[in-house]
Amino acid sequence: MKKFFACIITASLMLGVLASCSSDDGVLTVGTNADFPPFEYIGDNGEPDGFDIALIKEIGSRIGREIVIEDMEFSALIAAIGSRIDVAIAAMTVTEERRQTVDFSEPYYEAIQYVIVPVESDISSMADLEGLTIGVQLGTTGDFIAEDIEGAVVIQYVKGLDAVNDLLNGRVDCVIIDRNPALVFVERHDGILRAVEGYLFGFDAEYYAIAMPKGDTDLATQINQALRDIKADGTYDRLVRIYIEES
Ligand code: ARG
Repeated sequence: MKKFFACIITASLMLGVLASCSSDDGVLTVGTNADFPPFEYIGDNGEPDGFDIALIKEIGSRIGREIVIEDMEFSALIAAIGSRIDVAIAAMTVTEERRQTVDFSEPYYEAIQYVIVPVESDISSMADLEGLTIGVQLGTTGDFIAEDIEGAVVIQYVKGLDAVNDLLNGRVDCVIIDRNPALVFVERHDGILRAVEGYLFGFDAEYYAIAMPKGDTDLATQINQALRDIKADGTYDRLVRIYIEES
């Protein structure tokens, strides 16, 4: 009997948590990892900014939800969906493995991994990556690719930027990271680092989407409709211009 009541109490506590996070009560709590320019970063005013942040705010205003951003570690995002956060927008690639745990919105951006190297390096093929010490952001698709490279020593960083800093220090030979952040980081170290295009290594195209609680078809329908409208009315292109092309 005690067990029975304990279960009821646990169940109602869990329901309470669920209700407070995912009901249509106005607030949509959105997890991100604001260390991935131009998609998400901390702006000059100390608040999260970037393409993804602007996009989710636009979605929020169209579905009538106030957006509250939670900046957290990238590798913690998926597990936090449905508890600490409602959804995640973090330049997150749709993968079959992640699909086991969360649902994804329709994709909103096509990406690919790039390899950041010192300017003088001639790394240009998969064979060149074998046996190297490779820096990656923990739990990212760059991390998964690196772990499959023959003889590579993979060093995982909580922040992509720390991997880049260790490349500058010579602690890693290269960094595998998404194209746009690679271009931003390299531009900050013009003449010292360069970014090598992923297709040379045979990397596949990746698609970013918003990660949502599994089975919340209501929320998914709303978010997907908003995304479609945002693409159709030119807002999407405006955000690309502001955050990606001019960054
Ligand atoms: N696209 C890659 C992935 O999904 C990296 C994303 C990292 N995002 C971030 N905000 N740090 O694994």
